[in-house]
Amino acid sequence: MCGIIGYVGDEDAVGLIVEGLKKLEYRGYDSAGLAVFTGGGFEVVKRKGRLSVLESEIAAHPLRGRVAIGHTRWATHGEPSDINSHPHLGSRSRIAVVHNGIIENHKALRERLQSRGIEFASQTDSEVIAQLAEYYYNGDIMDTVIKVAARLEGSYALGIMCRDDPDTLIAIKKDNPLIIGVSPHGSFLASDVPAVLKHTDTVYYPEDMEIAVLRRDGVRFYNSDKEPVRKEPKTITWSVDSAEKGGWPHFMLKEIMEQPKVLRDTIRSAVSGENKDVIDGIDIANVKKIVITACGSAYNAGIVAKYVFEKLCRTPVEVDLASEFRYRDANIGPSALVILISQSGETADTIAAMREAKAKGATTLAIVNVVGSAIAKESDMCVYTAAGPEIAVATTKAFSAQLALLYALAIRFAVKLGALSPAGAEELQAELWALPDKITSVLAQVDTIQRYAASCVGYKSVFYIGRNIDYAIALEGSLKLKEISYVHSEAYAGGELKHGPISLIEDETLVVAISNCERLYGKIMSNIEQVISRGAKVMLIGRNPDAESGDKLTHIALPDTAELFSPSLSVIVLQLFSYYVAANKGLDIDKPRNLAKSVTVE
Ligand code: AGP
Ligand code: GLU
Repeated sequence: MCGIIGYVGDEDAVGLIVEGLKKLEYRGYDSAGLAVFTGGGFEVVKRKGRLSVLESEIAAHPLRGRVAIGHTRWATHGEPSDINSHPHLGSRSRIAVVHNGIIENHKALRERLQSRGIEFASQTDSEVIAQLAEYYYNGDIMDTVIKVAARLEGSYALGIMCRDDPDTLIAIKKDNPLIIGVSPHGSFLASDVPAVLKHTDTVYYPEDMEIAVLRRDGVRFYNSDKEPVRKEPKTITWSVDSAEKGGWPHFMLKEIMEQPKVLRDTIRSAVSGENKDVIDGIDIANVKKIVITACGSAYNAGIVAKYVFEKLCRTPVEVDLASEFRYRDANIGPSALVILISQSGETADTIAAMREAKAKGATTLAIVNVVGSAIAKESDMCVYTAAGPEIAVATTKAFSAQLALLYALAIRFAVKLGALSPAGAEELQAELWALPDKITSVLAQVDTIQRYAASCVGYKSVFYIGRNIDYAIALEGSLKLKEISYVHSEAYAGGELKHGPISLIEDETLVVAISNCERLYGKIMSNIEQVISRGAKVMLIGRNPDAESGDKLTHIALPDTAELFSPSLSVIVLQLFSYYVAANKGLDIDKPRNLAKSVTVE
C-alpha cells in the first residue's frame, strides 16, 4: 500500500524523490523517508506524519545527491513512527531498501538473523529485507537480491541501493506494482506512473521476479538466473496535467468535474476504440452465470451492474465482495464469467478473487483503470476505464467510468444474446452517449448542493435510502460520505426501513433518498413521509415528479435518462454532497484518515 520511488541520474535526486512522493502520497501517508547516496555512504531522513514533515526537515538540513530512494508509508507491521519509516538499512549500513507490501515470513527470518547476532532497529516486516540483503551480500548486489527474493514469502515491490555500487539502483517485485521509467537525464523506479510522468512517458512494466538494474543511462532487465530479458517499453498517454491539481482546491473536486470527459472517453473506447474488440470477443452465449466481485466503490458499481445485466440480458448475476468471494468456495465453473472491477488493478482481495475464479475454471474479465496493473495482466480479458490518473483516495471519476463500461458491456451482451432488439440497443446507445452532457447539467447545480451540504455539517448520522437501482447507488453515496467526512452513514433499501432502522430516525436525522425508478416513485415517497413524520430532514435526489421541496424536504431534480443509467446522474449529487460536507468540516479530503488509495494488503 505504500509508495516507493527511486532515481539515478544527472539531476538533484532529493528534489525528484520528494516531487515523486507527492504524487504517490495517496498510497499511504503514515510517514515518509528517503535515502540518498552522498559519496561516503547513505544519508537517511525519515519522519512520521505527512510528506510535508519530511520536506520541512530537508529544508532545514539540505541533502544533495544523484542517486536516491524514497517511500511514503501505510503501516502494516509496526506503528507509524520515525524508526519504522522506510528506507531501512542493513546493520552495516551497506544496503538501503524501500518496500511496498508484506513479508509474511518476517518473524521467522527476523529470529534467524537475530540468532546470528544481527540487531534490528524497527518493528517492521520490511527491515528483514535490508538485514537479509546485508547478511547475504558477497560483493555482487544482483546475486544478493536473487538470494533474498528466494527467501521472502509475501508480496513486495522493492527499491534497493548498495553503498559499493553507488551508480546503480535495483528494483524487483512480486504481486505489487512497480514501473520503471527512463528519461534523458536518468532512470526511475516507482509504484505508479504519475510519480515519473513529468520526466518521461516511456515506462517498462517488470514481471514478477524480474530484476531491473537502473543506471543513469538506462535500465537492463534480468531473470533470476541473471540472464538478460528483453522488454519493450510502453508509451503513457496520460497528460502531465491530469496528475496535477490545476487550481482546484482538492483532487477530488477536480476529478468530480472531469466526469463528462471521462465518460465520453470510456464510452468511445467501448463502442469503437480499444475495448471494443475485447468486448466483441467475449463468448457470452456460453455464459450461464455472471459473477461480479470487487471491493468498496468498485463493488457498489457491481451492484448497479447486477440490475442492468439482469434487466437487459436476463442472465443471472451474483455480486460478491472480493474479500468474501475468495474464501467462500463459490459454486462456479467454466460456464461462469467472473467480472473483476478495480480502479487500481492492485487490490489484494480482488487479485485473490481473480485467482480463485481462474482456479475454478471460470473466465475472468477485468474492468481496470491502471494499465499494466496486476489484475489487468493476469485476467483472461481486460477492458480499461478511461478515467486517467485518479489521485483522491475517494473514487469518483473511476467509479463513473466503471458504470459506463458496465452499461456498454450489458448492451453488447444483450444484443448478442438476442435479449435486446437492434432498435432497443440503438436507443440505449443514444442514452449512453447523452450521459456526459446530462452529467454536465447536474454538475451545474453545484452551488445548490454546496449550500445544502453546508447546512448538514452537524449531523452525526445519515441514512441513504432507495429502491432497486436507486438502492444500489445509495450504497455508494453512503460510502462516499463516511470515508471523507467521517459522518456515520448507512444505506438501506427503502422497504427495509420498517424492519429495523426506522427506530433510529428521530428529530434532526438526515435521510438522503434517491428516486429514479418510475414504478417505485410512490413507494419511496411513502418512506419519505414515514421518516419526516419522525422528525427527519430529507434530501431527495432524482426525477421523481411527486417530490416538492418544502420545510423538511429538499429536492435535487435530475434530467431524464434511461432508468438503468440513472445512477450515473444520482452519483454526481452524492459525490458533491459528500465533498462539501467534508470541505465545510475542513477535513483533508484527498487523504482521509486511515485510508489509502490502493489496498495491496489483505
Ligand atoms: C473508494 O472511494 C474507496 N476508497 C475504496 O472503497 C475503493 O473503491 C476500493 O478500495 C477498491 O479499490 P480498487 O478499485 O482500486 O480495487
Ligand atoms: N509492510 C511494510 C510496513 O509496514 C510496508 C507496508 C505497505 O506496503 O503497505 O512498513
